[in-house]
Amino acid sequence: MVDIHSHILPGVDDGASSWAIAIDMVAAAAKDGIRHIVATPHSNAQFRYDRSAHAERLMELRKRVGVPMELSLGCDFHFSLENVQAALQDGKQFCIGSGPYLLVEFSDFGIPPNADTAMRALMRRGIVPIITHPERNLFLRSKVEMLYSMVEVGCLIQVTANSITGFWGKAARRTCLGLLKRGLVSSVATDAHDLTHRPPIMSAAREAIHSKFGKDIAEALCSTIPSAIVAGKPIPDIPSLVRRRETGAG
Ligand SMILES: [Fe+2]
Repeated sequence: MVDIHSHILPGVDDGASSWAIAIDMVAAAAKDGIRHIVATPHSNAQFRYDRSAHAERLMELRKRVGVPMELSLGCDFHFSLENVQAALQDGKQFCIGSGPYLLVEFSDFGIPPNADTAMRALMRRGIVPIITHPERNLFLRSKVEMLYSMVEVGCLIQVTANSITGFWGKAARRTCLGLLKRGLVSSVATDAHDLTHRPPIMSAAREAIHSKFGKDIAEALCSTIPSAIVAGKPIPDIPSLVRRRETGAG
């Protein structure tokens, strides 16, 4: 499996609080069957994003981990005017690895009316937005049609692994299952912050998706599509997902 969203870098935001915890998180992820983690420090009003400092820290983490694990760099990019302007100037500084994919987190307090325009502007610059965990967003939860139109114009959707298994409550789980049912989700990721409360575990979500929606979709969302994302390649067509999107339920 490939985890495209993880606060694994120690001491840079509200994720891993020490090198020991970061190293143990990598070990726990490897044990769970994850072979590639994207470190995604926040870029928001609280945490400034410094690509080169994060890249150095990631290199240090590569040296220190004791298990086979590919590590690359991305960003948990908060949707704000300042961030969007910075990405329009130089999107690569926030994208996953050297590819076009950008994690975009919307505010819980509402989405500006020009969000659509901003997303299209990013796409014109060659950036592919991946909307992160809409199921946990109080506003987006009730705007599934808005998510549907964003997917139609080329955005991707990532849900959090433990939303599917119920950690974020019934409403988040229900929204998540609804999005999965309609084929709107492209990827599952851990959004891990630590070892206990928000751990780097995907296998339980993969099992749950497998049992509800079938093996093809579980593989696509946990492995095939996230592998393409970290490689910076186009998203492969997954027939069972396309079918669900087209029919609204598969
Ligand atoms: Fe995050």
